[in-house]
Amino acid sequence: MIIDGKKISGIIKEEVKEEAAELLKLGLKPTLAVVLVGLDPASMVYVKNKKLACSQTNIGSISYELPESTTEEELLSLIDNLNNDKSINGVLVQLPLPAHIDENKVILKIKPEKDVDCFHPVNVGLLQMGAGSLLPCTPAGIIELLKRSGIEISGKNCTVVGRSNIVGKPVASLLLKENATVTITHSKTKNLSEILQNADIIVAAIGKACFITREMVKEGAVIIDVGINRIGGKLYGDVDFEGLEGKASYITPVPGGVGPMTIAMLMKNCLNACKQQNNNI
Ligand code: GUN
Repeated sequence: MIIDGKKISGIIKEEVKEEAAELLKLGLKPTLAVVLVGLDPASMVYVKNKKLACSQTNIGSISYELPESTTEEELLSLIDNLNNDKSINGVLVQLPLPAHIDENKVILKIKPEKDVDCFHPVNVGLLQMGAGSLLPCTPAGIIELLKRSGIEISGKNCTVVGRSNIVGKPVASLLLKENATVTITHSKTKNLSEILQNADIIVAAIGKACFITREMVKEGAVIIDVGINRIGGKLYGDVDFEGLEGKASYITPVPGGVGPMTIAMLMKNCLNACKQQNNNI
C-alpha cells in the first residue's frame, strides 16, 4: 500500500483551517513570520510553499526576505522584534543560513514559545521528556502518517536510519513516546542490513538516493522515506521505491509522502502556538 502524504496532509490542513477560523471569530489570527536570508533556490521554494500553506489554512504570514549580506547582528535584532511582537505567534528562520551567520545563535534567539520548528534546546529537551507541545514538523508528520494509515506503533521494532537533529533524533523520541522499541542507525553502524531485518517500521533519513534496497528489509515492513535527493532535475527518496514494491506492506512515495506532511504540521504548530500564547484557548 502506498501512503498518500498529499491526501493526509490535505486533511490536516483542512482541520487547521477550520480551527483557525474558530480562533478568528474570537479575534485571534494565528500568524507565522518566515525569515529567509539569501537566494538559496531550494530554500526559496520551501519558503514559497510555507507561505502558500498559510494562505490555505487561515494562518497569517509575514515574510522577511533579506539579502545574503545581512549581518548576524541584524538577523538577531529582527528575531528580537518578532519575539516581542504580540501579533506574531510563530517565528521560522529558514536554514541553511549563509556561512557568516552562526545558526546555533539564531536558533537560541527564537523564543521557545514561538519556535514552530522545534529547534530550540528548550523544546528539544521537552521533546526528550515527552512533554513538548510544539513538535518537530517532519517527525510529527511521520507519526501522523503512521497513525492515520492505521499502523500500530506501540511495541513495534522501529529502526531510524540517520541521526540528524531535524529528523533522525527527534523522530526516534516521538516513536519512543508511542511505545515503540527504537533503534537509531547511522553511517558508522556496522551491520545495518542485519538490524533492518528485525525492523517492523523503517524511517529512512540518510540523504543518499535509493540507499535502502529490497534485500535489506523484511517482508511486510512499513517504510517511511524522508529522503529528498535531486538528481538531474528528478527527485529520489532514500529508498529504492520500485524495488520494494510487493515486499513492503506500506511505503511512502517521494515526492508526495513525508514532504507535504512537514508543512501541514508546521501549520498545526502555528495554530497551537497561537492558542498557547492566548491562555490555552
Ligand atoms: N531547512 C530545511 N528544512 C527546514 C525546516 O524544517 N525548517 C527550517 N527552518 N529550515 C529548514
